[in-house]
Amino acid sequence: MEKENFNRRDFLKNSLKTIAVGSIALSALDVKKLFAEAEYDINSATKVINIADYPDLANVGGSTVIGKTFISRTGESKFLALSMICTHKKCDVDYTGSGFECPCHGSTYSSTGKVTNGPATKNLKSLKTTYNAENNTLTY
Ligand code: FES
Repeated sequence: MEKENFNRRDFLKNSLKTIAVGSIALSALDVKKLFAEAEYDINSATKVINIADYPDLANVGGSTVIGKTFISRTGESKFLALSMICTHKKCDVDYTGSGFECPCHGSTYSSTGKVTNGPATKNLKSLKTTYNAENNTLTY
């Protein structure tokens, strides 16, 4: 009985130590930055869509927004995919119909993602696209 209580006490002590060390480690990290990077990684993970599910992409010149990605059909089998995350401090940019605008500090980008007004200095991230005409699918 005595030994069992001791083991429980040890277990509790060790658990509390683990929680304390874990909490200190988490507070030492820039959690906001960690989440921002994770979001960026999620955004850059490969996705496959069926073009038939997006009528706005049926014709050349059409475009749509899927999650935080702007997709435009630039040719019969060519697409442009741009991350809609501002390269300045990672706010979500808005599509204006002719380009992109960041509501946080006013950066603007052209319809192809080139910076047209700072403070951002880098273009929107362009994602590689692959169109499969056989399946009418786009990978980006
Ligand atoms: S985050 Fe977009 S301009 Fe600053």
